[in-house]
Amino acid sequence: MHKIHIAAFVAFAAFAVGASAAERPGHAAIASAHTLATQAGFEVLAEGGNAFDAAIAVASTLSVVESQKSGIGGGGFFLLHRASDGKNVMLDARETAPAAVKESQYLKSDGTPNRDAALYGPLAAGIPGEPAALVWLAAHYGKLPLSKSLAPAIRIARTGFKPDKSFLEAIADHRAQISRYPGTKALLMPGGEVPKVGWTFRNPDLAKTLERIAADGNDGFYKGKTAQLMLASVKATGGDWTAADLANYKVVEREPLRFDYRNWKIVTAAPPSSGGVAMEEMFNVLSGYDLDKLDRPHRLHYIIEAMRRAFRDHNEYLGDPDFVKMPLGTLLSPQYAAGLRAGILPDKATPSAMLPSAVAHDPGMHTTHFSIIDADGNMVATTQTVNTHFGSCLVPPGTGVFLNNEMDDFALVPGAPNAYGLLGNKANAPAPGKRMLSSMTPTFVFGPERVGVIGSPGGSTIITQVFEGIMAFMHGDSAAQIVATPRYHHQYLPDVVYVEPEAFDAATQKALTGMGYDIKPRGHWGFMNVVTWNLKTNTLDAASDPRHVSGLGEVK
Ligand code: GLY
Repeated sequence: MHKIHIAAFVAFAAFAVGASAAERPGHAAIASAHTLATQAGFEVLAEGGNAFDAAIAVASTLSVVESQKSGIGGGGFFLLHRASDGKNVMLDARETAPAAVKESQYLKSDGTPNRDAALYGPLAAGIPGEPAALVWLAAHYGKLPLSKSLAPAIRIARTGFKPDKSFLEAIADHRAQISRYPGTKALLMPGGEVPKVGWTFRNPDLAKTLERIAADGNDGFYKGKTAQLMLASVKATGGDWTAADLANYKVVEREPLRFDYRNWKIVTAAPPSSGGVAMEEMFNVLSGYDLDKLDRPHRLHYIIEAMRRAFRDHNEYLGDPDFVKMPLGTLLSPQYAAGLRAGILPDKATPSAMLPSAVAHDPGMHTTHFSIIDADGNMVATTQTVNTHFGSCLVPPGTGVFLNNEMDDFALVPGAPNAYGLLGNKANAPAPGKRMLSSMTPTFVFGPERVGVIGSPGGSTIITQVFEGIMAFMHGDSAAQIVATPRYHHQYLPDVVYVEPEAFDAATQKALTGMGYDIKPRGHWGFMNVVTWNLKTNTLDAASDPRHVSGLGEVK
């Protein structure tokens, strides 16, 4: 077992004289899924940047070194805490549907769902939000120009790095789809073959695209040369984006969801993420039980029943808040939680079939999360994605940009599940300019003595993994313990508790099975990245998930 989490570094810079220990840490910590991205964040901090500049550097470098999972052709949610005034805000850089979207694009001629169109090629891609987020962060929160905060990503895209095994496996898994698009094939399968470990991946077109963003801000991506190249490629491959789709894209500053659980304050992702709402519902239900007084099987029983009910509601009611009215006041009320508790039997699982509506899936390792606290106490929790590996697999030639396949997160065809088995309904139906529902759940947890910055990839399991990370943090676990905690997940349908093999001991498993739970082992769990701040000792702690020790991608 690796003791050193190579993708997480904690830097101890000079402690500021006269600073109150509780007010600023005086040093910074970053945890991301890739060493080069974490280093890029520290490089930008050393240049005089703050956490928001570092977030631009980490996010853009992940676009290069982990382009199978996230990138400027995708989107994400940036949860920000500004130390100077205590402002918490969620920067919503979720992709939007193009104006031409229609359900028939995702149906075969026999009327059945066309999963290929939903996942690969231009129809799968939403209008990217990530570039606008980076530009917004620099303009409104950062201290440095984009030419400095994007510099590490530009350099690495141009000079290259050696991708790790997970990157190469993602290429192998998608070789058929990658081969459809000459721009993507030339980048990822030089000579037509899946590269071997030791290969140096260079993406000079992406370096140029990032340079255009550094020079011209939004216009460097959403207008001009980059836009022209994307529009031409989308059209040539059967899609329908307009110049207005790109030019009209806007990030949205949203109030994060805030709620209390015991003496903790949780600040987390608001819709169009479903994660914060689902977590708040879970914590509301659990606040009616004294979990510490219960034996482990019963504690888990109530937690799993809370998960089941939160996921049921998630599918039923949530969507883009700019398009749909959601009954959040009801869903998140104590009375509603009390009603849910009343339906939970003390010793018996509730079959999901007894609750209306649906979900199912094979949650993957897509998406990425990073956490940052800087010397002044500014904090960033970002979860960003191109959806499944390499998104739509379409790289418009000349851009180096992997276009996402986030359209699949809409309920494209009523009643047909997406890549995560999430069914969704009218609230999440596609419409021009609408954002698709997400599970991404970047989160801050504030306690009297400790603060946590937490998040994870993992499709629909993001929500339960972040929930379990928060529970571990509240329990007093270190960052390394939080990211290593064995995981379990229930999402209403299928009516199964997925577990990491070591999550439940034999006695617990037997007790839960006796209560009616169907428990199945599962191998894939998210790449959680956590930073914590102990206000009493004024120390920072950072850790990356030991399940996914990232390859040391070296800069040439
Ligand atoms: N594309 C995965 C998510 O946003 O939840």
